[in-house]
Amino acid sequence: MEWGMKNRLSRIINPKSGRLVMLAVDHGYFQGPTTGLRDLGKTVNPLLPYADSLMITRGGLRNWISPAMDKPVVLRVSGGQSILKELSNEIITTSIRDAIRINASAVTCSVYIGGEYERQSIENLSRIVNEGNDYGIPVLAVTAVGKDLVRDAKYLGLACRICVELGAHMVKTYYCEPDFDKIVKACGNVPVVIAGGKKIEERAALQMAKDAVTNGAVGVDMGRNIFQSDNPIGMIKAVRAIVHEGSSVNEAFKIYKKK
Ligand code: 5RP
Repeated sequence: MEWGMKNRLSRIINPKSGRLVMLAVDHGYFQGPTTGLRDLGKTVNPLLPYADSLMITRGGLRNWISPAMDKPVVLRVSGGQSILKELSNEIITTSIRDAIRINASAVTCSVYIGGEYERQSIENLSRIVNEGNDYGIPVLAVTAVGKDLVRDAKYLGLACRICVELGAHMVKTYYCEPDFDKIVKACGNVPVVIAGGKKIEERAALQMAKDAVTNGAVGVDMGRNIFQSDNPIGMIKAVRAIVHEGSSVNEAFKIYKKK
């Protein structure tokens, strides 16, 4: 792997621990003013000290985040649809030139395996992998599930492996039981992180993070289960304790509870 690519990846995945906590706040690109992100800056800026990296759109960054912020950016470069329409109908919205201008440490787009516009989303991933390889910028592929697809190991394993075969440098998927470890193994050396998904009770979200890293994920790329929590700072600290310190769910839950 080329030096620049390795350097950017090591900003995202801690080279010593091999782990990461990415804070996902890119939801507005298809959900609009998502609960918790209406004033994105007010929610996200206090969480930044506890995040290893930030997954966000260029509009999110330029409107709400200071350029003096020192966390690596994983830039969402796909979009073009909304929650009112077919979710898989994505295009690449943000050029690699703008990603470089923003100083992105990685770029990301969604892949909708089984979706109506499956091929288009695969083309999107292939294009940003080609461009990312040209400029040494790693690509995080997100296995998006649309509204109706089943999140089991057979489906997620298919989606993740396709992303790996197409050259993604990291893959983000959902945690599932049983056989999450098989999904990770079939991704070879490509690191896998989990999304949090819809807001669930805090202990259940922490358990999911614990189960994911125990079964091979290198960390989490979590959004709503952090920023929609009644204690977002406690929650991100609790997630960090699980991912980086191997804390138990009980220990982490106590960290979440502290105000
Ligand atoms: C949308 C995304 C989101 O960033 C992702 O779903 C992570 O956020 P959450 O933990 O809220 O699911 O990639 O496709």
